[in-house]
Amino acid sequence: MPQSWSPSSWRSRPIVQVPDFPDNDALNAVEAQLATYPPLVFAGECRELERRLAAVVDGEAFLLQGGDCAESFEEHGPNNIRDFFRVFLQMAVVMTHQAQMPIVKVGRIAGQFAKPRSSNIETVDGVSLPSYRGDIINGADFTERSRLPDPERQIMAYRQSAATLNFVRALATGGYASLGNVHKWMLDFVEETPQWREVARRIEDAIFFMRACGIDPEHHPELRATEFFTSHEALLLGFEQALTRQDSTQNDTPYVGTSGHLLWIGDRTRQPDYAHVEFARGILNPIGLKCGPSLANDDLVKLAAILNPDNRKGRLTLICRFGADKVGDHLPRLVETVKREGLNVVWSCDPMHGNTVTVNTMKTRPFDRIIAEIETFFAVHRDMGTYAGGIHLEMTGKNVTECTGGLFEVKAEDLHERYDTLCDPRLNARQALDVAFRVAELLKLQRTRRGKTVMAAE
Ligand code: PEP
Ligand code: CO
Repeated sequence: MPQSWSPSSWRSRPIVQVPDFPDNDALNAVEAQLATYPPLVFAGECRELERRLAAVVDGEAFLLQGGDCAESFEEHGPNNIRDFFRVFLQMAVVMTHQAQMPIVKVGRIAGQFAKPRSSNIETVDGVSLPSYRGDIINGADFTERSRLPDPERQIMAYRQSAATLNFVRALATGGYASLGNVHKWMLDFVEETPQWREVARRIEDAIFFMRACGIDPEHHPELRATEFFTSHEALLLGFEQALTRQDSTQNDTPYVGTSGHLLWIGDRTRQPDYAHVEFARGILNPIGLKCGPSLANDDLVKLAAILNPDNRKGRLTLICRFGADKVGDHLPRLVETVKREGLNVVWSCDPMHGNTVTVNTMKTRPFDRIIAEIETFFAVHRDMGTYAGGIHLEMTGKNVTECTGGLFEVKAEDLHERYDTLCDPRLNARQALDVAFRVAELLKLQRTRRGKTVMAAE
């Protein structure tokens, strides 16, 4: 590393998007307490994820990342977690089957609490209060008390993350996620559309064929369990620092951020010489970098040099979020830059954050625009000879009405019915599956074009 790094070296850099904690002693006490708690994830798991993402760089796998915009203390029930996990696995199975390649599954979960905001202040009916910044910082209720940043919330967030992670690990490995089960859930939606029915039928055929050959999914670890990783935006750096630990299994004792497997830097906090980039460069986790329209080519080169000086495959994922109308203008210049510099990156598409619009005073995202951004993302990579490697979604397993459109048509006038998000609008379970089916088709085309055999059943 060019300059010495420590888990606290970010503190001497300029920083944006930090809350104003009223009591510094209380904040320091909480951070000191968190530093004594057990890690949530292990360095070995983060290295494993890097290997999986290296396969994505090589065009041999695809990244599926998704979850809430912001997790909340109030919604911390088993049903929410299980329903999310279930639809996420259904999406992964559809994609695995259609693309015939491993899908690297990364949830925005078990730590996705801190939010960057476009304004520090929110004004309602002439009253101005600090903006809501995520449950790890303050409360969403529009009262002075609730909006005051409270460090104790970090302890709550840590405990909720630990419990959530424990539950998803149990779901992933305890039999719930077995291929046979996932297939049974598919039966719930086979009647929905002919295309969905057809894919479910083919997966069923594959399972019957395996069984006939003597392979019972229940008795094979690869089919009985699934690999699932966690991720969140590493925004609240005091919290992240407290959970940064030395990896004692390695001689050069690198540091690992133990709050989640993949940590990303938001579009608002990616200034090369600022605190968030400084923190991320020193931890061994796979790092995500949100890339919006304002990211200059030179800055991307600088950021890649800082965050991935050895150009390691799987270390850096570029999460592109331009908007359907801008992706065609900006993605080609960044792809060109990355090609010219010979950088190893995962190209992932976040079709949510550039497509937010306000309808009847509610923030929403039209499904068609989400799909349009995804299609252009794949088309640009096709034209430039690069590999579209991932998709990043804000989604839930519940039947919310937050994004408009989709196969089952959420209308603008329905938005208020089940608009539960504390932050950005999420795809509901059916919309998320709808996206998965469409991405699966694009993946199939991409794989065929790249000369890999996809056994055509049509
Ligand atoms: C997010 O992922 O919720 C987010 C705030 O994204 P971005 O930094 O891309 O705006
Ligand atoms: Co969001």
